[in-house]
Amino acid sequence: MRILGVSAHYHDAAAALVIDGMPVAAVQEERLSRRKNDAAFPLAAIEYCLDHAGLEPDDLDAVVFYERPMLKFDRILTCALRAFPKSWRSFPHAMKNSLSEKLWVRGIISSHLGVARDKILFTDHHRSHAAAAFLTAPVREAAILTADGVGEWATLTVGHGARGPDKTAITLLREIRFPHSLGMLYSTFTAYLGFQVNEGEYKVMGLASYGRPTMADSVRKVIKRAPDGAFRLDLDYFDFHTSAKRSFSQQFVDLFGPPRDPFDPIDLTTAEGQRFADCAASVQLVLEDILVDIARALQRETGLADLCLGGGVALNGVANARILAESGFERIFVPPSPGDAGCALGAALYADRIHFGNPDRDMPDHPYWGPAVESGELAGLARQDDLPVQEMEEEALIETVARDLFEGRIVGWMDGALELGPRALGHRSILTAPHTSQMRDRINRDIKHREQFRPFAPVVPAELAERYFEMPPGGARLARFMSGVFPVRPEWREKLAAITHVDGTARVQALERGMAPRLYALLEAYGRLSGIPILLNTSFNLSGEPIVNRAVEGYLTFRRCGMDVLVAGQTRVTKKAVMR
Ligand SMILES: [Fe+2]
Repeated sequence: MRILGVSAHYHDAAAALVIDGMPVAAVQEERLSRRKNDAAFPLAAIEYCLDHAGLEPDDLDAVVFYERPMLKFDRILTCALRAFPKSWRSFPHAMKNSLSEKLWVRGIISSHLGVARDKILFTDHHRSHAAAAFLTAPVREAAILTADGVGEWATLTVGHGARGPDKTAITLLREIRFPHSLGMLYSTFTAYLGFQVNEGEYKVMGLASYGRPTMADSVRKVIKRAPDGAFRLDLDYFDFHTSAKRSFSQQFVDLFGPPRDPFDPIDLTTAEGQRFADCAASVQLVLEDILVDIARALQRETGLADLCLGGGVALNGVANARILAESGFERIFVPPSPGDAGCALGAALYADRIHFGNPDRDMPDHPYWGPAVESGELAGLARQDDLPVQEMEEEALIETVARDLFEGRIVGWMDGALELGPRALGHRSILTAPHTSQMRDRINRDIKHREQFRPFAPVVPAELAERYFEMPPGGARLARFMSGVFPVRPEWREKLAAITHVDGTARVQALERGMAPRLYALLEAYGRLSGIPILLNTSFNLSGEPIVNRAVEGYLTFRRCGMDVLVAGQTRVTKKAVMR
């Protein structure tokens, strides 16, 4: 069967194609349209998936949308009516959004793709998250926990899944419903701290490390616990359910103080800057506590050893590491794209295994489902500009790039197929030596233009991860797709200054050779030169831009920033100053 999964119209649209039970292509629309977090109906992503497999839309057996638009509309309408008259300003905005696109998804898919309306299916939003987490993990049976801002109504679900030769089942036991939402809680603090919602959540997590959770009791006033582990937001503190403009109320401001102006830089040497860091630390702690409690109860209830985590909240690597350490689960699986983009793949797999009842298949355990980079394209572009180009044998290339890194150069590294999900996991990465804080500052200044308080991540061979990082049992699995934050061992912190966060931790990628053999070889070669086989690995993009996809985008980025070397496949390009 040929099944296309689609997510769109909220943020981060994507398409994924599953043929005979196996993913063959998946890509986020933003990587092709070059508009960050592009939420538009993902026509370019769909076109890529179909082209890659040599299919026409007519060849598809089903197109699956990742949520149920009618239920979502029901939620928007109900909330607006409940909150009337407070909501009357936001209501037309919400209606327009729903009526213009979201509600008419079947018609949009049918008219864009020319597929029959009866081939178009819908899954529940959180079932798509659950499927993306469970059906891609190398486990037969696992507990499942999904948490995000909101889908249709659910904001958090717990359940379990089982895969067998005859039947695949995903059973969701309970859900927490909008407006009570961990994702909305975190997003509200993201907005309060002056960052962009759906983009700045990482910044809150980075900032939290600079603060102390002195306001945790205040956060516990706005999110109240139930004896069974569930939670409720005290809606007096929030406005997101009644207003499109502001997510927190005056009462929230009375409790936490004035919000940060997004245009004011955070100065951690001032009391005000420290207040924001303490606020971030407080919401982070409360989020972690709640997730750990829910996961622990789920472990006791199911008695299972493995947990699959999905939804945007699963991008919180600090919380994930605490769940691993404290919930009783032995292993935690977070897919490379736990957010809504990954739902395109989740929805397609859900339809294949559960709606159509097709046999179970073991999934390839990697994130590389997008377009492949063409090294010839890079060579052609660089020659046109008269830049030094080398097309090299593999061994020589790896040795040369390892030396580039050892000598302090910043390397753009493009290899094979693009990652699905927000993280560069070795196919579209910027790599540097990880040893000095000057290197971190240089990447911030010349390339990423990020806030100083945001950490950079390391990549290390999986077998050696424990030598440098305090990884609990199961930690390497969580670190496979950079989904956990772990302490750098104290004796290595000074030698790994560029990737060690202020609190001594790092968001580690533990790389197995089979997943990205060329990056693995580069780590080995770099280790032979430096004695430490670890590199700083950050996503290949400039601030505010999507991760690069094609060689031309990598090349244009390389030309516009302080990167020294660019590699795509077998091609190595340098700016003239660093040519050897
Ligand atoms: Fe979601």
